Amino acid sequence: MTTLPANTTDDADAQARLLAEAEAFAREALAHDSSGHDFAHIERVRRVALAIAQAEGADPFICELAALLHDIADYKIAGDEATGLARVRGWLEARAADATTTARVMEIIATMSFAGGQRPAMTTLEGQIVQDADRLDAIGAIGVARAFAFGGAKGRALYDPAQPPREQMSVQAYRTQQAPTINHFYEKLLLLKDRLNTRYARQLAERRHQFMLAFLDQFYAEWDGRS
Ligand code: ADP
Ligand code: NI
Repeated sequence: MTTLPANTTDDADAQARLLAEAEAFAREALAHDSSGHDFAHIERVRRVALAIAQAEGADPFICELAALLHDIADYKIAGDEATGLARVRGWLEARAADATTTARVMEIIATMSFAGGQRPAMTTLEGQIVQDADRLDAIGAIGVARAFAFGGAKGRALYDPAQPPREQMSVQAYRTQQAPTINHFYEKLLLLKDRLNTRYARQLAERRHQFMLAFLDQFYAEWDGRS
């Protein structure tokens, strides 16, 4: 793990101001999103990231700031990654965030929004935490709700026994497929608990994962008229 120099925006007031501005920026940037990245998602990621940061002894300011800004550079919102990243960097520089803070936050966001199939590993604890918080928001009860909201927005079926989930998929196939929403559990959501970086996130994921398994059991039982 790379150790970046300590954050130097160490004035509590300056940090609070920057966080408030980042919140307004994210709220505005994501106001019209229908891809599952609305501002409520950002607030949940922020809360869970702070909880993990406390449990793991990480820098809460960097975690909170990166959580607030993490989806602005997403290709679904920015159009493409490079444009999105430049927008966030410009925003940080315009607010005179110190160079260390800007570098630490940009590194996290760039790694998170990496659109290629194999994403590079997070190199800092703060990055690992924000990534874990984002992944946790895709599983559990919230994850179930988001998956069906996403599927509904795309006009997809809930379930179709004739279309089994696929194990290997190209990025292109993943983005363009019209598979039923239940398949998404096998293609992504049930795999997430083993892709977490931190111990505390793995602890939180356990209950969320069990909830999804119970949900699927009940779903099939009702589908078949057994329950
Ligand atoms: P990320 O940008 O973190 O990779 P996505 O954009 O893939 O996340 O997903 C945003 C939300 O929409 C998540 O909750 C995810 O589970 C859900 N989602 C993404 N793709 C699908 C899909 N094919 N079917 C159902 N839900 C999906
Ligand atoms: Ni996100």
